[in-house]
Amino acid sequence: MNPTPSPARERAQLPIGIFDSGVGGLTVLRALATRLPAEQFLYLGDTARLPYGTKSPESVTRYALQASAHLVARGIKLLVVACNTASAVAMPALAAEFAPLPVIGVVEAGAEAAVQTSRTGHIAVLATESTVRGGAYERAIRARRADARVFSQACSLFVALAEEGWTRGPLVEAVAREYLQPLLTEKEQDGLDCLVLGCTHFPLLRETIRQVAGTKVTLVDSGETVAQAIAHLLAQRHLAQAAGERGQHQFLATDDVERFARVGSRFLGAAITASDVERVDL
Ligand code: DGL
Repeated sequence: MNPTPSPARERAQLPIGIFDSGVGGLTVLRALATRLPAEQFLYLGDTARLPYGTKSPESVTRYALQASAHLVARGIKLLVVACNTASAVAMPALAAEFAPLPVIGVVEAGAEAAVQTSRTGHIAVLATESTVRGGAYERAIRARRADARVFSQACSLFVALAEEGWTRGPLVEAVAREYLQPLLTEKEQDGLDCLVLGCTHFPLLRETIRQVAGTKVTLVDSGETVAQAIAHLLAQRHLAQAAGERGQHQFLATDDVERFARVGSRFLGAAITASDVERVDL
């Protein structure tokens, strides 16, 4: 006779919910799926309302609550906010609304990665306008290292360039140079040794940013650090899928599924076909 599955065991079999304003969070999914191959992921891209990065905190919080509610209604064991903008402004509202569901955001993970990487404590953060305006990275970095010097730069155009697949070449370099110019001046560069890609779209532009920023600066993003934090939490709460399983991924988008599949494949680093994507209204 099969033993009756315990509630914890049943919960362990649920997918991990993950959302972003669009396809950027697929760079986080990529890191999570590499680290946690047995887990299933339910990914929602709120493509109809992208970008979040230029919207007010009130709008971003409302969108984040709606996207999360959709994932929670389908049944998830953990929620990953794979959007820096939503993590920067909506974490308290999400944690309160969906407690006791564990909610993990990318800003804390990115700050942790920066503090682990930087020797001098002089750290630059590239992010969207809303993320920079709210100051969440500065707070999260200083909470870990009080003497840190944090320089933040909004790079909203990077989102559109990544979406277009324009990640290399003279035009992208010119945009990167313009954005990075303030932190490349002698005064700002003094001791700067770490640059945080504080938006889930930016890892696609990593090579160009690296080229413009120079070799003294190490680039970090939150993907790997958030994967470590989730692996730890799943083990601690006995929520991990049994090893040896092969997790399936399900994709939801609030706008055209064909575009999500085409652009998303670049971000995930693996083919997504339109028939893999379900169109949903929030
Ligand atoms: N993926 C979002 C983030 O990490 C940026 C894209 C947007 O502006 O919606 O902030």
